[in-house]
Amino acid sequence: MTAPPRIDDAAAAAAAAIDWDKLGFDIVRTRSYAEYTWRDGAWDAGVLVPSGPLSLDVWATSLHYGQACFEGLKAFRMRDGKVRVFRPDVNARRLQLSCRAISMPEVSVELFVEAVNRAVTDNLDFVPPYGHSGSLYIRPFVVGSGPQVGLTPAPEFKFIVVVNPVGDYYRGGISQPVRAVIQHGFDRAAPRGTGHTKVAGNYAPCLGPTTRAKKHGYTVMLFLDPKTNRYIDEFATSNFAALTRPDVNGRRTYVTPRSRSILSSVTNRSLTELAVKHFGWTAERRQVSWDEVRSGAFDEVVACGTAVVVTPIGAIDREVLLDTAGASADPRVAPLSSATTGIEHLWDDAELDNYTDDDD
Ligand code: COI
Repeated sequence: MTAPPRIDDAAAAAAAAIDWDKLGFDIVRTRSYAEYTWRDGAWDAGVLVPSGPLSLDVWATSLHYGQACFEGLKAFRMRDGKVRVFRPDVNARRLQLSCRAISMPEVSVELFVEAVNRAVTDNLDFVPPYGHSGSLYIRPFVVGSGPQVGLTPAPEFKFIVVVNPVGDYYRGGISQPVRAVIQHGFDRAAPRGTGHTKVAGNYAPCLGPTTRAKKHGYTVMLFLDPKTNRYIDEFATSNFAALTRPDVNGRRTYVTPRSRSILSSVTNRSLTELAVKHFGWTAERRQVSWDEVRSGAFDEVVACGTAVVVTPIGAIDREVLLDTAGASADPRVAPLSSATTGIEHLWDDAELDNYTDDDD
């Protein structure tokens, strides 16, 4: 993609005023987004919409029943001046998986790529210049936009691609190791739930525990598998990957967890490919136990994903984070209701004992 000549608009002035060195992971309003509507079994031809509020039916299923999923990918300005988008076809296929999981119409790979190109091309002046570590973050999402009061898929859906220039996700940048915590009493996903998809409902429940973790000096939450709590799943924001120490030939093994409740990260997949094809290392996707990590089996552990890129993990603790002041000072963060687990029991424990552990 190359920049088309632009008429001078307010967005152009806003883009010209960006201090690229100060970019974080915050909202920067760009010129426009691409919006497509699904009705009567098909997606329409889509339009570019000037940035601004989205109008939704008050009974939209995304608002009530969580029919919403999203993607994250990035566009970079390269040395030759062109802007390139990283592996949009892989994100397109993952969006299809998420749409299927929550009964929404799929977006074809072709439509996905078209929409991404449309949104990026209209906002080329918001792509950070070559030489800066920033990029244009691309957020495609699908929501149930049509009304429904019963528990039924929406009659109408929106597929939207919005873009936002970003720098580092974690303050301090990707050379700064961060502390992670495994918190007792909260699982990110259910054993046979939607943890492998990027549905919005996987993220909101992490907000409270993550805020609590931050208050205790941790940057990110790490989750164990929800069934046994013995194996590493992933971080709240990203996948887990680790490197073994080099062998006598300088070769390492890139290890990343296999689990049915983690997201299939495009960054992780790309790192695995680099490890094997570029560095000549071996790669293993297998169960990684917490005991293995705790015993120091790995030389390096990282969080990897589109937003966090490759963030080194300096330490991982496993503990109960008590809100020492009782209720949280932040009214949006649910206080811990039980000092030991953080779980509010709606049923008696005795009643829960009647449920059998259904192995698969
Ligand atoms: C991404 O890496 O693109 C994500 O969607 C993660 C999110 C927590 C920002």
